[in-house]
Amino acid sequence: MKRSALVAEVTVVPMKKRHLPQVMRIEAKVYPRPWSLGIFLSELNLTESRHYYVAQVSRKVVGYCGLMVAVGEGHITNVAVDPEFWGVKVATRLLVNAFEVGRKTGVKDMTLEVRASNSRAQKLYFRFGFVPIGVRKAYYQENNEDAIVMWSYNIDSPAFGAKLFEIKRSLSDGEIDD
Ligand SMILES: CC(C)(COP(=O)(O)OP(=O)(O)OC[C@H]1O[C@@H](n2cnc3c(N)ncnc32)[C@H](O)[C@@H]1OP(=O)(O)O)[C@@H](O)C(=O)NCCC(=O)NCCS
Repeated sequence: MKRSALVAEVTVVPMKKRHLPQVMRIEAKVYPRPWSLGIFLSELNLTESRHYYVAQVSRKVVGYCGLMVAVGEGHITNVAVDPEFWGVKVATRLLVNAFEVGRKTGVKDMTLEVRASNSRAQKLYFRFGFVPIGVRKAYYQENNEDAIVMWSYNIDSPAFGAKLFEIKRSLSDGEIDD
C-alpha cells in the first residue's frame, strides 16, 4: 500500500484490555524501559482521569497515546508508534485526538516530558504548540538522560482550535511523501 493511502486507513479508538498484547509489543520495541502490563492495566482502570487511545490499521494496533487529566491540566503520559509505521502521521493523529479529548474535558494547558535526545518527538510536539519550559535532570534512570518538560498553553482558546483544525486538514490532505 502507498504510504499516502495508509494515512487514510488509520482509525483511532479507545484502548481496551484486548489491545494490550499488541500495545506491549510496540512498547518493548521502542522504549529501553517499557511499561509493564500492570502499569497499563492500572492506567486503564483510572477511567475518570485517564484517556488512552490506540491507532489501528485494519484492526492491527500501530500506535497509542495516553492522556491524564487533573484540574485543568492534561499530561501526555505516553505516545508511541510501531517503527514500521513511523513517518505516516500516526502520532500526529493520536495527538490531535488527545488534544480534542483534552478540550472536551476542560484542559487549559498540556504538558509532557521528552528525552533531551529525542529530537524526532520534540519536532512533532512543537507543531502542537509545546515549548520547552524546564529540565528534569537524569529523569531517565537507565542512562541518566535529562527530560525536557514541555507545555502547550491555552489549548481551549479559539486560536488553538484553529491550529488543531489546520493540523487535521493537513492529515486529510494526505500531505505525505510516498
Ligand atoms: C516519536 C514518534 C511517536 C513519532 O511517531 P510518527 O507516527 O512517526 O510521527 P508522525 O508521522 O506523526 O510525524 C510527525 C513528525 O515527526 C517527525 N518525523 C517523522 N518521521 C521522521 C523521520 N524519519 N526522521 C525525523 N523526524 C521524523 C517529523 O517532524 C514529522 O512531521 P513531518 O513528517 O510533517 O515533518 C515515534 O517515532 C515513536 O514511537 N518513537 C518512540 C517512542 C517515543 O519516543 N515516544 C515519545 C516519547 S516522549
